[in-house]
Amino acid sequence: MNAPEQNGCDDAGRGQFKSRLGFVLAAAGSAVGLGNLWRFPYLTYKYGGAGEEGGGAGTFVLVYLLCIALVCLPLILAEILVGKRGRRNPVGSFNAIRPGTRWNIVGYMGIATGFLILSYYAVVAGWSIEYTYKSVINEFAGFETAISDSEAAQALGAKLTSERRGIGEARAGDSVWVVDGNPEEFKAKLIAKKAELYPQHLFSQFVANPVKQVGYFLAFMVLTVILVLGGVAGGIERGNKIMMPLLLLMLVVLAIRVLTLDGGGRIIGYLFKPSISTLSWDLVLGAMGQAFFSLSVGMGALLTYGSYLGPKDRIDTSSAAIPAIDSSVALLASIVVCGAIISFGLAMTGSGTGNVFTAIPVIFQSIPGGRWLVVLFYLLVTIAALTSTISLLEVVASYMIDERKMKRTEAVLISAAAISAVGILCALSFNLLAGYTLFNMTFFDLLDYLCSNILLPVGGILIAVFVGWVMRHDEKRQELACMNPIVYRIWNVLLKFLAPAAILAVLVGQFIFRA
Ligand code: TRP
Repeated sequence: MNAPEQNGCDDAGRGQFKSRLGFVLAAAGSAVGLGNLWRFPYLTYKYGGAGEEGGGAGTFVLVYLLCIALVCLPLILAEILVGKRGRRNPVGSFNAIRPGTRWNIVGYMGIATGFLILSYYAVVAGWSIEYTYKSVINEFAGFETAISDSEAAQALGAKLTSERRGIGEARAGDSVWVVDGNPEEFKAKLIAKKAELYPQHLFSQFVANPVKQVGYFLAFMVLTVILVLGGVAGGIERGNKIMMPLLLLMLVVLAIRVLTLDGGGRIIGYLFKPSISTLSWDLVLGAMGQAFFSLSVGMGALLTYGSYLGPKDRIDTSSAAIPAIDSSVALLASIVVCGAIISFGLAMTGSGTGNVFTAIPVIFQSIPGGRWLVVLFYLLVTIAALTSTISLLEVVASYMIDERKMKRTEAVLISAAAISAVGILCALSFNLLAGYTLFNMTFFDLLDYLCSNILLPVGGILIAVFVGWVMRHDEKRQELACMNPIVYRIWNVLLKFLAPAAILAVLVGQFIFRA
């Protein structure tokens, strides 16, 4: 976790961030992760669809941004405030602020949510290790021979024929194809199609392999454990300071590349032109769940970071910086991934969980030097994921250390072992357990749905009610001494009324209006 220094100069004997920038970067490091680079693009594509004119993606982005500004931003400040005042893990902080009440249930729920999120999150994080490796050995380059002519031609809608037809006929290898249009163009299209099909082929092969899925998942858990055990301070905090700006720079370079493609500009309309007709409860719930997930809000991760702040640290402005950084990264990632899908006319199949792993290799093949950029890209995905898994494991571990009086090593190892047991089932849900579904979702999908769309929002309501209604103004004001009085009022009102009401409406609405 980012750098609580054990200097022992605060009352709870806990560490403290060295600087405000350190805190903001730590919180941003937890927030920016697979949620931005993998989940956000795949959801925009899920709601936007293959056609760029539908407006579904635009509606999703708009609702997402509204949720962030009106619901999540007030909640971020509330969560950090509880941690800063309680100066303990999520359970301990509620106990410290309202001793003897049941409010600590919010803390317990948060710890359970963190446990579950980590168990499926580390599966996808494991994919990024394999993809870093694949890009180092340049596996994506083998597409011309790996995909057969007939497979690519079939995907293009051409028909194999044994007759000579004259017009509209193309030879590729030994076969003769009936095609629409110019045969030379067809050959070029055939190669492009192969370049597109190959990463999808690699991806499905990869997730279908249970040994690899479990292996990479466990490898990622081990990485996380090593860092959390080591106290991480210098390593991760310093790593974050270098890697986060680098990630942003990489994304900007890629976004420019996508936007300057033929028809690349269409992605802007795709992402920013909402259409009312696409509004549905499912979309609103999806957008809200994504906002919670992406900002790490609703389960006590930010609360735990807040507990490493000093009594005089200013939290209102820092709280605003987190969503600003996080949404910029998410939008850039969507421009890159969805933009590439649209401009390259890639046909994405399945749930889209693999988009970032199938679209990126295709785009990079068209960029000079792309072979090395792709290495860098997946390396950065891996690191962004790691700074998030650390924060998840740390929440569970800090509870075991503070409340169950375990040693750090013991707490980390026991938590990680339990999380791994559940995570293995997630890793297997892409292969051996793929047939076992509930509500049409695999175990992996089910956990993601449960955590993002139910547990985090419920956690959010409870935190909003606690800070909005239970805590007194003088308690809150003590932690927010520098906050502008008008902004404080607005925040308080949003927290008391709008945030809980909006979350509740969306949660309940899904059961009533579910299509
Ligand atoms: N926000 C991270 C992401 O976008 C994931 C994450 C880390 C998280 N810690 C969390 C999500 C706590 C919810 C709660 O990848």
